[in-house]
Amino acid sequence: MHIVVGVSGGIAAYKACELVSRLVQDGHQVRVVMTSKAAQFVAPLTFRALTGHAVGMDSDDEPEGPLSHVRLAHWADAMIVAPATAELLARLAEGLADDLLSLVYLGCRGPVVMAPAMEAEMWAHPATQRHVARLTADGVVVVGPKSGRLASGHWGQGRMAEPDELIEALRDATSVKDLAGVKMVVTAGATWEFFDPVRLLTNPSTGLMGVLIAHFAARRGAEVSLVYGPSVSAKLRPDLRGYPVVSATDMLEAVERAVRSMPADVLVSAAAVSDFRPARPRSEKAHKDNVGLTWEMQRNPDIIRTMAQRYGDRMLMVGFAAETEDPVRSATIKRQEKGLHAIVANLVGQGRGFGDGAHEAWLIADNGEWSIPGASKEATATFLLDWIRDRLRSR
Ligand code: C5P
Repeated sequence: MHIVVGVSGGIAAYKACELVSRLVQDGHQVRVVMTSKAAQFVAPLTFRALTGHAVGMDSDDEPEGPLSHVRLAHWADAMIVAPATAELLARLAEGLADDLLSLVYLGCRGPVVMAPAMEAEMWAHPATQRHVARLTADGVVVVGPKSGRLASGHWGQGRMAEPDELIEALRDATSVKDLAGVKMVVTAGATWEFFDPVRLLTNPSTGLMGVLIAHFAARRGAEVSLVYGPSVSAKLRPDLRGYPVVSATDMLEAVERAVRSMPADVLVSAAAVSDFRPARPRSEKAHKDNVGLTWEMQRNPDIIRTMAQRYGDRMLMVGFAAETEDPVRSATIKRQEKGLHAIVANLVGQGRGFGDGAHEAWLIADNGEWSIPGASKEATATFLLDWIRDRLRSR
């Protein structure tokens, strides 16, 4: 993507360096325009070195040749203004274009994300709030500011949003909302089955696959509930409805609750659910000298199978199958046994799967069978969501 980053003059300008660096590393083409005040906080040379391109400030600067503001505005697919000071917000809300940044803003036809940063009193002032409301009404996506320690040493709402959050907001603003109206429940991560208060049965799943599916779906406009086990440590989008659970029994109960309350059109079961649990967990810590070496185990409910029996006529049911051999054959049988509309099969073991990205994957559905190109977790999530979109439309 072609992205113009506008930097105005506040102490948070140093964070714009990190933002620009991240955007370049993510493969975007980036150009920076600054206000002259911003150049007192960070040297234009820093941005020039990060992007490999000249930086402009004044309305008659020509970093891209004559009529740079027009060229940059037409070139940009999107713009991020970070940090946006109170003064810049006021100027942009009024359309006062007297420097390169404001000229590019007025000419930019793509989405614009702004990250205000200032002292808490300035942010709370009715004048600033008026300008922000105006910019929001003009279609600008305003992210933050966050609460925390400010440059003055005081605490309050005024800290610039972190680069991660701005990049996520930009992705949201530029993505096609082809899953708008779809209600989806996703499960992610391993479950924990306790033997006693300090020992448990689990597996190495990080839950990343389920979290990516939930995040990508939300970005594409779906309403998403995520039921996740304790192994999930990823930062979750604030627009997800989260159901943290511990055991498989909890997970079944939470999935049922989530499905009913939406009510959901799709269940994607990416969780690595423990098939067994200790039959008689102890309420006190078991001391190694006075317990035997065998524990009696009990089967856990199969969550997706149970849900498919209850709701398979109303909802799409999608499962995952991690297999150590002949994944397509095993997953095809598993899909039929569990009563699923689709299953994603992948090869694990021999150093593959559980956390790494590069494995082979297939989608086996009631309307066809595909090898997933690339097969990274990202590619798998995107491929599956495309299938869900098309399958729901064809119903
Ligand atoms: O039978 P297996 O565990 O290989 O099946 C994997 C699929 O079934 C995954 O979608 C997983 O989330 C789901 N599953 C479940 N409840 C269980 C075990 C697996 O929903 N108890």
